[in-house]
Amino acid sequence: MKKVTTALAGSLVALAASAGASQALTLYCSAQEEWCQIMARSFEEATGIDVDMTRKSSGETFAQVKAEEANPKGDVWWGGTGDPHLQAAEEGLTEEYVSPMREQLHDWSIAQAESAGNQTIGIYSGALGYGYNNDLLAANNLPEPACWKDLLKPEYKGHIQMANPNSSGTAYTTLATMVQMFGEEEGFQYMKDLHANINQYTKSGSAPIKAAGLGETTVGIVFMHDAVAQVEAGFPITVVAPCEGTGYEIGSMSIIKGARNMDEAKQFYDWALSAEAQNLALEVDAFQVPSNKGAQTSDKAPDLSSIKLIDYDFTKYGSSDERKRLLQKWDEEVSTLPQ
Ligand code: F6P
Repeated sequence: MKKVTTALAGSLVALAASAGASQALTLYCSAQEEWCQIMARSFEEATGIDVDMTRKSSGETFAQVKAEEANPKGDVWWGGTGDPHLQAAEEGLTEEYVSPMREQLHDWSIAQAESAGNQTIGIYSGALGYGYNNDLLAANNLPEPACWKDLLKPEYKGHIQMANPNSSGTAYTTLATMVQMFGEEEGFQYMKDLHANINQYTKSGSAPIKAAGLGETTVGIVFMHDAVAQVEAGFPITVVAPCEGTGYEIGSMSIIKGARNMDEAKQFYDWALSAEAQNLALEVDAFQVPSNKGAQTSDKAPDLSSIKLIDYDFTKYGSSDERKRLLQKWDEEVSTLPQ
């Protein structure tokens, strides 16, 4: 009898544990920390499902999902530039899912999904650019930059910061933008000449403009919405849409293949595509353009229709071979150059 009771108690504990486990979600987040936090907490409040959230940059999260391929620990990857999400789809790291929310989304969001067998989807977009600290620029007697090529002038030596394209989706977008805008040879030459003026490659894409806000660097190459956030926070930053034109991102979301909490992952995915969830961006000064047609875009968000955007080839630059090739070439030919 005792044996039976013990066995029963054991299986009840196991059942309770599995019931508990089904009310949790592991979220990998690659947007800004404050936005990640409010998404996690609001989903918890809306559903009672506990969210364990970690914020890492886009390239870093891709590397983690890849490393965990045989034993997935994450359920949903929300945010971050689209290119590594596309690469994850191609490498079979993410799950196909067609959300009932799709009819509420802009075409560019659906196009991102359809180009990747519905293994990812667009949640926001934003243009690349840079920002500079007005006070430091004046103190150093530097001219006001307006174009990408202005940043190559020798007087900016040591004044420019950007992220490392291996860890950061922002910086990979920068590299892929130069290659698409100027051609591969000239684009790499641009990155080499820029390297001579860089004071630091950061891990996270938005770090350079936060540093500019604090007066630690003069220029930060970032998504324009991240520069606007610093202006809104009261820092003396000017936001630049470079004169030659610029690339942009389709920030994306994917469900991780083999997710342990698949039902909750789909619940989060559908919720994150709703206008209500996307409007949370406004509460944390996230100035990207949302993918739900009914969600509000802040009036402070950079107006993408007035910025000269290149026809960014997401399929090519989000492909596994191309992303690996460009990163390796940058590692070998740019990052190793003396400064
Ligand atoms: O800070 C927000 C943001 O710029 C997003 O728009 C973008 O998807 C993400 O950060 C990229 O971050 P990282 O360059 O660190 O991968």
